[in-house]
Amino acid sequence: MEKFIIRGGKPLRGEVAIGGAKNAVVAILPAALLANDKCVIRNIPCISDVAMDIDIIRDIGGAVRLIDRHTLEIDPSGLRDVEVPYELARSMRASYYFLGVLLTKFRHALVSHPGGCNFGDRPMDQHIKCFNALGATCELVKGAYDMSAERLLGTQIYFDKVTVGATINAMLSSVCAEGLTILENAAREPHVVDLANFLNTMGAHIIGAGTDVIKIRGVPQSSLCGVDYTIIPDQIEAGTYMVAAAATRGDVTVTGVIPKHLESITMKLRDVGAKVIEDNEHESVRVIGSDKPYRSTSCITLPHPGFPTDMQPQFTALLTMASGVSMLSEGVFDTRFRYVDELRRLGANIKVDGKTAIITGVERLTSAPTRALDLRAGAALMIAGLCAEGVTEIEEIHHIERGYEDMEVKLRGLGADIKKINRPDKVAAANVV
Ligand code: EPU
Repeated sequence: MEKFIIRGGKPLRGEVAIGGAKNAVVAILPAALLANDKCVIRNIPCISDVAMDIDIIRDIGGAVRLIDRHTLEIDPSGLRDVEVPYELARSMRASYYFLGVLLTKFRHALVSHPGGCNFGDRPMDQHIKCFNALGATCELVKGAYDMSAERLLGTQIYFDKVTVGATINAMLSSVCAEGLTILENAAREPHVVDLANFLNTMGAHIIGAGTDVIKIRGVPQSSLCGVDYTIIPDQIEAGTYMVAAAATRGDVTVTGVIPKHLESITMKLRDVGAKVIEDNEHESVRVIGSDKPYRSTSCITLPHPGFPTDMQPQFTALLTMASGVSMLSEGVFDTRFRYVDELRRLGANIKVDGKTAIITGVERLTSAPTRALDLRAGAALMIAGLCAEGVTEIEEIHHIERGYEDMEVKLRGLGADIKKINRPDKVAAANVV
C-alpha cells in the first residue's frame, strides 16, 4: 500500500507538461478496435485506467504493443470475444465503451455493468436508450448488459440529460449503422470531439461534434482503416496544476495545453484573484498566485463549456483558504462531496447542503493523515496538503494514479516537498506470519 507524504507550505514554481486526456484515451483505445488494421495512438498518459483498457483489449483478443511510454499500437485482427467480464469492467467506468464498439464490430456485446468513482446514482439508461433506438436488444444477465442486433439502423436520439458516456457510446455504435443518426442534446466535451476526430481520421463520417447536435452517417465497417493519431491534452490534469499553483501562491506555466479548453477554469481563477496568462501560440497557460487572500466566489459545475465537475474538488480545496463564504454547487452528479470530510481533517470549514458545499475560508490548513476517496478527491487532497502546515499523508493513492501520471514527480519538479512511500500492509504482513 503506497501513500504520499507532503510537507506543505512551498509555493509551486516552474513548468509542468501535461499529458494526453484520460477521458479521450479511454474512448479512443476501444474505438481503435473498429479499424481493419493497426492503429498507432500517441500522447497516451501513463495511468492505471489505460492499463485497465489494455487488459480488456488483450482479454478479448486484441493485441497491444508498447512503442514507447506514451505510444501504443493496437492490432484488432485477433479480436474474437464479445465478453468483458466483471473482474475487468468493475474497475473503471469507461469499460462501458466496449458495449458500443463490440456491438458495431460483432452485432453482439456482453459487458458487465461498469465500476468507477462513487458519485451516487450513475444510471446507464441513456446508453441503453440509444442502443435500443439503433435496433439492438439489451438484457441484463447476471449484472452484464447482453446486447445484440441483426442490423443497426440510423436513427434520431434526443438525450434526456447531457451525458458524455452515452454521447460517446452513441457515436461508437452508430458509426457503421445504415443511414443517418442524429444525436441531439449531445455532450460537447473536448474528448467527445477528439473521439469524433479519431473516427473521422479512420474513415467515419461524423459532423457537429463539439455542438449539441452530432450527425453520423454510417460507413461500411470495411472502410475504417488503421491510423496514426495523437490524443489531445488533458484539460483536468492541466486545471489541477493551475489550481495547485494558485493555492500555493506560486508561479507555474502549464505547457502542452489547449488554452481554449481551460477557459472556465481560467475565468474562475481570475474571479478569485489569481493571475492567468494564456499563450495560444506556445500552447501554455501561466498561473501566478496572489499574495493576498483569495476572494470567495460561487460556482456551479455544468457540462462543457461550463465549469467541469472533475475540477470541483480541487477548486473546493482552493476555496477553503479564501476569505469569506463560497458556494460551490454540483450540477452534474447526484453527490460528489464525500471527500469534504477529508478536507475537514485538515481544518477546512465546509458544510454540505444537498448539492452545494458552503465553504467558509480559514486562514490556514493544518496537516493530518487523510485518504483519497476517488480520483479528483485525491487531487484535492494533494492541493490541500501542499498548502497545509506540517506533514500531510494521503493514503489510497491508487485512485489518484488512475488519472494522473507521475503526479508526485511533476509536483517535485515544481519544488514541492513530496514523496511516495510504501506503507507496510498490516493485513499482508499478518498473513505472511
Ligand atoms: N446519466 C444518466 N443516464 C445515463 C448516463 C448518465 O442519467 O445513461 C447522468 C449521470 O448520472 C450524471 C450525468 O448524466 O448525472 C452526466 O454523466 P456522464 O454520462 O456525462 O458521465 P460519465 O460518462 O459517467 C464522464 C467522465 C467523468 C466525468 C463525467 C462528466 C469518463 C470515463 N468519465 O463520466 O470523469 O466526471 O463524464 O464530465 O469519461 C473523472 O475523470 O474524474 C471522471 C469522473
